[in-house]
Amino acid sequence: PLTPLQAAKRAAAYHAVSDHLLPNHTYVGIGSGSTIVYVVEAISTLPRSLTSHMTFLTTGHQSRALIYDAGLRYTNIDTLPLDGAGAVRMLDVAFDGADEVDAELNVIKGGGACLFQEKLVVVSAKKFVCVADHRKLSPSLLTSFPSIPVEILPLSTQHVLASLRLLGSPSPTLRSGLPAKAGPVITDNAGFIVDAPFPPLLPSQEPSDEGSRHDVATLAKRIKEIVGVVEVGLFFGAQKPAVVYFGMDDGGV
Ligand code: A5P
Repeated sequence: PLTPLQAAKRAAAYHAVSDHLLPNHTYVGIGSGSTIVYVVEAISTLPRSLTSHMTFLTTGHQSRALIYDAGLRYTNIDTLPLDGAGAVRMLDVAFDGADEVDAELNVIKGGGACLFQEKLVVVSAKKFVCVADHRKLSPSLLTSFPSIPVEILPLSTQHVLASLRLLGSPSPTLRSGLPAKAGPVITDNAGFIVDAPFPPLLPSQEPSDEGSRHDVATLAKRIKEIVGVVEVGLFFGAQKPAVVYFGMDDGGV
């Protein structure tokens, strides 16, 4: 039997797939994490006549394995045909989880270290459909989730840590693989992950008298400017989900 939290994730996933995976879809993004497992489960229960023409764009080793095990077809996002004008968003839809979602649907991602490929897939999709459990909703980012995941190139570790401190992060930390593995977590892209705590973020760029608090967009851009940063786990603006499904412990959404 499922725990209440698993039931919540599963409910969000099944509703999202039922509402947003359409028979005419060809390219479908699949994110990473524990909730996306139920998205793939929901897709795999559909009649094969609905999914056999679909190709799934995965976001790392975990989601590729899920799609492979479900007997579905996947490809690397860099193999998609681009046809010129308006071709940037080639995917019909992308499903993915979240670590925290604010009232304006800005999202923190990267708890599972897959943020770079997840962001690449999301910005390549016409629609980002987010699936999460009720714990993920909060008034502002960094209220419940402790830090912003940042993927970096290994050689830049000390530079990135120092630069994040200058931006106001009190204790940015190189994510380690302990207890499973001594040493840093290595991402699917052979990068490292730094977790950068900040005070809770302001959702939008409206002027505020709360001087020590960054807004999501400005902080994301400042972190991205640091030499060595590959991608930031803040999804804002055009990277935001069109819709978020929050599952409840009782199986409702
Ligand atoms: C992976 O790096 C993350 O962005 C996940 O999408 C996020 O951590 C959500 O994971 P869960 O579905 O396990 O909560």
